[in-house]
Amino acid sequence: MMGLEPKNLHSSIPVPSVQELASLQLEAVPSRYMRDDMESIISTVASDNTLRVPLIDMTKLVDPESQETELQKLHAACKEWGIFQLINHGVSDESLRNMNKQTQEFFDLPSKEKQRWAQKPGSLEGYGQAFVTSEEQKLDWNDMIFLKALPIEDRNPEIWPENPPKFRESLDRYSQDMRQIAVALTRFMAMGLEIETRELCAAYEEGLYQIRMNYYPPCPQPERVTGLTPHVDIPGFALLLDCGDTPGLQVLKDGRWIFVEPLDGAVVVDMGRITEILSNGLYKAPEHRAVVSKSKERRSIVTFCYPALSFKVGPAMELIKLGSPPLYKTVTVEEYLGCFFNPKPDVPFIDTMKI
Ligand code: OGA
Ligand code: NI
Repeated sequence: MMGLEPKNLHSSIPVPSVQELASLQLEAVPSRYMRDDMESIISTVASDNTLRVPLIDMTKLVDPESQETELQKLHAACKEWGIFQLINHGVSDESLRNMNKQTQEFFDLPSKEKQRWAQKPGSLEGYGQAFVTSEEQKLDWNDMIFLKALPIEDRNPEIWPENPPKFRESLDRYSQDMRQIAVALTRFMAMGLEIETRELCAAYEEGLYQIRMNYYPPCPQPERVTGLTPHVDIPGFALLLDCGDTPGLQVLKDGRWIFVEPLDGAVVVDMGRITEILSNGLYKAPEHRAVVSKSKERRSIVTFCYPALSFKVGPAMELIKLGSPPLYKTVTVEEYLGCFFNPKPDVPFIDTMKI
């Protein structure tokens, strides 16, 4: 679930798998993928390699000796970037490696086999491409599978792959691991914001965790396509696992696109609109996108983390003071998602949340 604004979710148009397209070894990409509507993808990439996404160490947040300093770093990262890499997050390398392997094996299955878990009309869940609503729409160089993972009742067994054989078991474990990171992180973010932590953490304990696995095949004209169109995520935050060492994720920082260089064992934390609202605009949900490579495929596993459906999303009470009035309405997560999926024509989603 991204910040892309769906227009009519009941008629997602089936489009070819880019993995299949890539296997044809074309010299040029079909026109539906050519982003003539955007400036050249390559020319907008920052050449300034000195600018790096912040790095946050969870063990330093936990250790009383270093907590204060690391909390300040976290707070600054959320305010200035809205995205950072998290290390020593407490989830074992084994769990990450395992999910990575299962995802790779899934995308490596023959096309016909993957189709067993294809999206059904009107649903975003399953294997396919998201939000294709018109024949004219430009397409991303991306195949994906999107699955609701937590709470367990939200799982849809019809589209949870049974092949590769260990996929389900791995995703079950992985989603619980991501929840553990989300809850821990929420506590530290709330501490950084100096707002009440208990209710918020409980809401993430009982939250929604939805996982999107992205596959970006090599592309004959990477400078002309997007792997994923620029967007802002809508949950509390997204936890992104880069599955290899090919960079692809970029974040827009002060008008320039900066690569998030993959770091083995790290999880990329990307703020979504819910955190922006909760912090009354202090933490920014950044615009980001994915670019692709000419010779290398790339995979990512993105967990969208939401507080429980009944949780009220609005600017935290402690942040509302004289001179800083609430900028956003307060609505339940359920209502918030309802607004997202039934957008008003020509009104950007976030504007419908503003006071
Ligand atoms: C997403 C996303 C980026 C990536 O799935 O919302 O931003 O690098 N993915 O795959
Ligand atoms: Ni995203």
